[in-house]
Amino acid sequence: MIYLDYAATTPVDERVLAKMMPYFRESFGNPSSIHRYGQKAEVAVDRAREEVASVLGCRPEEIIFTSGGSEADNLALRGAMMARKDSTKWILTAKTEHPAVSKTAIQLDKVYGFLLEWLDVDQFGMVTVESLAKAVCNDTTMASIMYANNEIGTINPIPDLAETAKANPILLHTDAVQAAAYLDVDVGKLGVDLMSLGGHKFYGPKGVGALYVRKGTDLIPHLTGGSQEFNLRAGTHNVPYIVGFAGALKLAAEEREARTAQVKPLRDHVIGAVLETIPDSKLTGHPEKRLPNHASFVFKDVDGNLLLQLLDSAGFACSSGSACKTGNPEPSEVIKALGYSDDWALGSLRITLGVGTTPEQIDSFLRNLPSLIDKARNLNA
Ligand SMILES: Cc1ncc(COP(=O)(O)O)c(C=O)c1O
Repeated sequence: MIYLDYAATTPVDERVLAKMMPYFRESFGNPSSIHRYGQKAEVAVDRAREEVASVLGCRPEEIIFTSGGSEADNLALRGAMMARKDSTKWILTAKTEHPAVSKTAIQLDKVYGFLLEWLDVDQFGMVTVESLAKAVCNDTTMASIMYANNEIGTINPIPDLAETAKANPILLHTDAVQAAAYLDVDVGKLGVDLMSLGGHKFYGPKGVGALYVRKGTDLIPHLTGGSQEFNLRAGTHNVPYIVGFAGALKLAAEEREARTAQVKPLRDHVIGAVLETIPDSKLTGHPEKRLPNHASFVFKDVDGNLLLQLLDSAGFACSSGSACKTGNPEPSEVIKALGYSDDWALGSLRITLGVGTTPEQIDSFLRNLPSLIDKARNLNA
């Protein structure tokens, strides 16, 4: 089986796992306890927070550990909007966002009484400065614009968008869950107020993430209880996972160039070969400003879910943008936002590479794909 779905999740790096292991049994204390068991666990969480802060170029107390990227997104959006519920009204985001952002924004509008405006995206799924500037008004509270897109790999111009946000001024949140594996996540350079991360996209464990909260940015906690995480996120710390998250993020930053150098030429080969050998195929997302491990396509008159099953049977684990709802396949919101008609949008395919990807695996994939697409087209006809 060849794994080409690193945007869905990654295996935990062995070095990360080794760092986590002592905190399951030997040093199992609760960081909130006064005794030495607790102190040892507290030191581990403090050290992890410092490691994360050093990668992000921020202060340790600006890092809030969460249960993952989704929770970080929820805390950012609901926390920031609820903290400002008496003053301003509007939240801006795009239909290309991960549901952890878009569905939270919809809930803020439908249930909590805020107002949501969708930002325009261009043909590559990018939110431009013009699109943000056009939508901002005096009553805007925040914008949430992802750093890099999970389905189509497009990288948004976050530092430029942050300039626009600052000029108005509104809060800017970015979901950097996909970006952190390959892009610089220095919050000073990005200029954001809030940024979400998730461990399992960069060879850390699943079920742990973090939210960067710029000092002085008020949030209402959405998980109330104990005073952990500066009163912003109650619950006993998941010490081994927090240690793993920090270790994996540090390695991602240290090895960013090497990891990029490994996957980018292979990714370019995939894109070139697919567009050349498969009729009626198009790249989705930006041709250059995209994650270096990410290739995504639409194929005309192909059922994307069927194609994934055929690929799986042939030994390739890939992903698509469409969610099949019992006999009623629907293109994803992201692909729809790019303006494709259903005969294209239903045939999406995402190939994402990672540390285990070899040129041989890519050759094998490229050898098999054309006939599998033909088969999917014939079955569709
Ligand atoms: C862009 C983006 N945001 C948020 C998430 C959710 O992260 P998690 O799985 O850690 O909750 C994902 C995961 O697929 C993602 O790709």
